[in-house]
Amino acid sequence: MGPKKILITGGAGFIGYYITKELLSRDIEPIIYDAFLNYIPPLESRYAPYLEYRLNGIKNKVHIIRGDIRNRGYLIKALKETEPDTIIHLAAIPIAQASNQFSEEAMQINLNGTVTVLECIRVASSVKRFIYASSSFIYGDFIREPADENHPTSPIDIYGGTKLSGEILTKAFGKKYGIEYSILRPSAVYGPTDANRRVTQIFVENAILGKPIFLHNGGIDKVDFTYVKDTAHGFVLAALSEKAKNETFNITYGSARSTKEFADILKRIFPELRIEEGLPAERRPKRGSMDIRKAKRLLGYEPQYDLEKGVSEYVDFIISNNFINDDRG
Ligand SMILES: NC(=O)c1ccc[n+]([C@@H]2O[C@H](COP(=O)([O-])OP(=O)(O)OC[C@H]3O[C@@H](n4cnc5c(N)ncnc54)[C@H](O)[C@@H]3O)[C@@H](O)[C@H]2O)c1
Repeated sequence: MGPKKILITGGAGFIGYYITKELLSRDIEPIIYDAFLNYIPPLESRYAPYLEYRLNGIKNKVHIIRGDIRNRGYLIKALKETEPDTIIHLAAIPIAQASNQFSEEAMQINLNGTVTVLECIRVASSVKRFIYASSSFIYGDFIREPADENHPTSPIDIYGGTKLSGEILTKAFGKKYGIEYSILRPSAVYGPTDANRRVTQIFVENAILGKPIFLHNGGIDKVDFTYVKDTAHGFVLAALSEKAKNETFNITYGSARSTKEFADILKRIFPELRIEEGLPAERRPKRGSMDIRKAKRLLGYEPQYDLEKGVSEYVDFIISNNFINDDRG
């Protein structure tokens, strides 16, 4: 029998919201465990309106617990009270730049926090499966493309380091204590209600506001942009599948596009959009397409949103909900 109750750490966040919605649509009970932390200055990020939108969409249907994953006693209490059979673990500092800047917090949350969740699972015996949200950053610079799950892991920054450490400890706990796990590696997730000022949010909001967007290095860097509904769908499939047990999957669109292409799609929607050369940004791993054949084969994962469709739905969402009615950011 599949899972019935899934506790989502970080479930009030961007990806967590879409996972919660999909679980509800499948009559699986989501429980959100979230500390409501934000690593971007709230006025820049539009954090409050986006968070409010997410919570309004689910608040009467979901048990929401305000709690920090670093608080072991409180997490055990929450697990004992709610008795989930699965945990989807999203709570983290999810932005590379912020993890690099606040490296101590990144260690405490991304790494020690993950260990605390795993420790709590040992005490709260209802939990059978632990789903760990990793990242494409664990690969570091891609040495081949598309990068499959066996591509060498060699992070070049703190964020990737903490995410890879979390993977290793997930496997270690799994083996030592018989906790089933699945490790999922998303990349460059974009879409409605992202409040982390990722390049995609900045581009879309600026385009709507009539502000220029800035490309670094001509925007040639390619990443495997993935629409958030596809990401969430991949997480749900892994949580429901026996075949995902003790396996690692790339969960992305499966084909990289450049930031210039992202900008050009916006330019077709907003012909007046000014695309300018920006200052050099913090070095990111040199990434590209990720191989998603394993997720397709074992989970039946099939992403539905190419970049054109995803960007267009994202733009429509912001305009129709009137999220951009001032000139913050
Ligand atoms: N968005 C992406 O492009 C992307 C790509 C790869 C991996 N990921 C991973 O996916 C996960 C979710 O990312 P997101 O984009 O939804 O980020 P998000 O910031 O929207 O959501 C993260 C949530 O975790 C919560 N949280 C943070 N620290 C916590 C703590 N100590 N205790 C309890 N809750 C805490 C926050 O309040 C927030 O609601 C993260 O683990 C991130 O590393 C994201």
